[in-house]
Amino acid sequence: MEKTTQLYEGKAKKVYATEDPNLVIVSYKDDATAFNGLKKGTITGKGAINNRMTNNLMRRLEAKGVPTHFVEELSDRETVVKKVSIVPLEVIVRNISAGSFAKRYGVEEGIVFDEPTIEFSYKNDDLGDPLLNSYHALALKLATREEIELIKKYAFMVNDLLKGFMKEIGIDLVDFKLEFGKTADGQIVLADEISPDTCRLWDEKTHEKLDKDRFRRDLGGAEEAYEEVMRRLMGE
Ligand code: TMP
Ligand code: ASP
Repeated sequence: MEKTTQLYEGKAKKVYATEDPNLVIVSYKDDATAFNGLKKGTITGKGAINNRMTNNLMRRLEAKGVPTHFVEELSDRETVVKKVSIVPLEVIVRNISAGSFAKRYGVEEGIVFDEPTIEFSYKNDDLGDPLLNSYHALALKLATREEIELIKKYAFMVNDLLKGFMKEIGIDLVDFKLEFGKTADGQIVLADEISPDTCRLWDEKTHEKLDKDRFRRDLGGAEEAYEEVMRRLMGE
């Protein structure tokens, strides 16, 4: 499978067309941004880690019944995925208080919830990805009622499975963001990535942060944290 023209360049990935109208190639970059692109930097090696980690997890989720866009890993940084139209919702699931949840509700980070929470934000950089609920998403015609129900169901399935995968490698899954897409034949599938860019991952014993918060909060050691997650997940 060969790349033809570039279709899109986002903050962390580029997307290329292929000879097959139903398939595209994503190429992961080392570029890191935070706060809606205000903070910019590089996490060397991140592109390859996020690509390989996403593919590892998507394969395992697919095997457990979550449909995904994953088709084939081409190289360290490049993967063939189904062409989808992205549902413009960021779907965030949380197991432990952190980040914007802790800030918004004035609570400390690290409170373990009895049940996971889910929230949506409207994927729109100009508006700063505002929080919305499913009624707002319906009013804005971002998805149908059935699609929103399916997205919630898959998001909680992903949480249960991912929490288990992370526990096996001594990591607490604090929270994460998912994106879903719609294929040409109207199927809702998990898309985008699952990586230390899009998850909060804390070492279960030391509670050390093994994710992009090291970059967002200038903690240092982002490269080493990404490598550590990769090593635990894939043994390298
Ligand atoms: P938040 O606490 O800042 O709302 O982030 C919740 C989760 O979503 C966290 O794991 C990081 C991830 N996330 C993204 O993947 N992209 C984003 O643009 C933001 C703001 C958060
Ligand atoms: N990737 C997002 C941005 O650049 C934010 C984040 O992950 O914190 O704004």
